[in-house]
Amino acid sequence: MCLNIIGKLILGISIITFSSTIVFSQNNFPSPNPDRIVLNLTEDASTSVAVTWRTDKSVSEGFCELQITPDGRIDPTISKSFKAKTTAVKYIHENNPVVEANQHSFIFTDLYPGKKYIYRVGLAGFWSEWIEFETPSKQNDEFTFIYFGDPQNDLKSQWSRIIRRAYKHVPECSFMVYAGDIINNGGSDLEWEEWFKAGSFIYGSVPQIFTPGNHDYIDLELDPHWKTQFTQAKNGPDGLKESCFFVDYKNLRLISIDSATEGELEDENGNDLKNQKIWLDSILTTNTKDWVIITTHLPFYSPKENRDNSTLRKHFQPILEKHGVDMVLTGHDHSYGRGMATDNPDMKPSIIYVVSVSGPKLYEAGNKEWMQQKGSFLQLYQTIRINDDVLEYEAFTANGTLFDKFILKKQRSGNNKMIEMKPQTN
Ligand SMILES: [Fe+2]
Repeated sequence: MCLNIIGKLILGISIITFSSTIVFSQNNFPSPNPDRIVLNLTEDASTSVAVTWRTDKSVSEGFCELQITPDGRIDPTISKSFKAKTTAVKYIHENNPVVEANQHSFIFTDLYPGKKYIYRVGLAGFWSEWIEFETPSKQNDEFTFIYFGDPQNDLKSQWSRIIRRAYKHVPECSFMVYAGDIINNGGSDLEWEEWFKAGSFIYGSVPQIFTPGNHDYIDLELDPHWKTQFTQAKNGPDGLKESCFFVDYKNLRLISIDSATEGELEDENGNDLKNQKIWLDSILTTNTKDWVIITTHLPFYSPKENRDNSTLRKHFQPILEKHGVDMVLTGHDHSYGRGMATDNPDMKPSIIYVVSVSGPKLYEAGNKEWMQQKGSFLQLYQTIRINDDVLEYEAFTANGTLFDKFILKKQRSGNNKMIEMKPQTN
């Protein structure tokens, strides 16, 4: 009898210890303190920027405070204060513990172009740190952005060094672009936690731009995190807001096409494609920016031997060529390829297509004719510097070695002049 009681006690203690271990090891739950603070570019980056953050459900409202960056101590009383939009969310994924949170978002508008600002989010007693960002000027002077192919795997342990090196390399970068597959299992809050750990404060001070990949979809639905933890531009076609959109930054129009929709283009006559084509043609017709760069997940031309996305080319390439798009930045193939190509036998190739990967899931690039540079089993990040009518592109490996480089110069008429500068050793 006595032994029976002792046995039950031991079992009870074991269960409590086991349960607390699960809770303790689950590190993705929110608290009253703001976390997962992300800036996103808006349609007009020179006068506005969007911020999104997370708290637990005890914090039912959120505020932002903003002021022009002072030279000395920050005086919170001179800040402008704004109330954010708060949305209750419940992230359910497989057998993982359900995460309930409040997501708060706000778009700072009427900002001065070319100014440094400082902001914090939260509310009294639970403020974030003050975080700096800078709006672009209205001039076409130099700026640099960073482009990542799929992060996707081992985000905390291995992808973290890529974003940290890229940021260390260009700490003044204007924004970061992701060509999809940010995490591996769409909907997994634990994986998002890893992504947030990897880049930490960077996301709150450098605006982020995301186009979704197939891994960011759950069947045919975009991972619900996308629309609650990010605030991307809502200028895309109906049904694809915040996954298909454009932003303007100085003399660049950057466009996200959602190529992960409709099961990787299985329904090639689907509405998502049709609507995106009509929308794309219209925003390129009215575009006044000198440079146009597209980001989308699926490569137009694939480095991988057994892959080809001819449907994507069939739908979008004629529109891009008609409007003189400069470059297309993609992911998906987990290897590197860069080249100029066209399916139109009557045209001289004019668009540069890039496929890259930043995460540690790596494949071999095949021997495809379209590539002027290729790479296998390399984690890479790219810096793209635009200074008026000159664009300088560089790709670096995980240890910071230059792997690819070229320069584009806008001509008064006709195609860009391209200067090939890839390192000789490759
Ligand atoms: Fe991927």
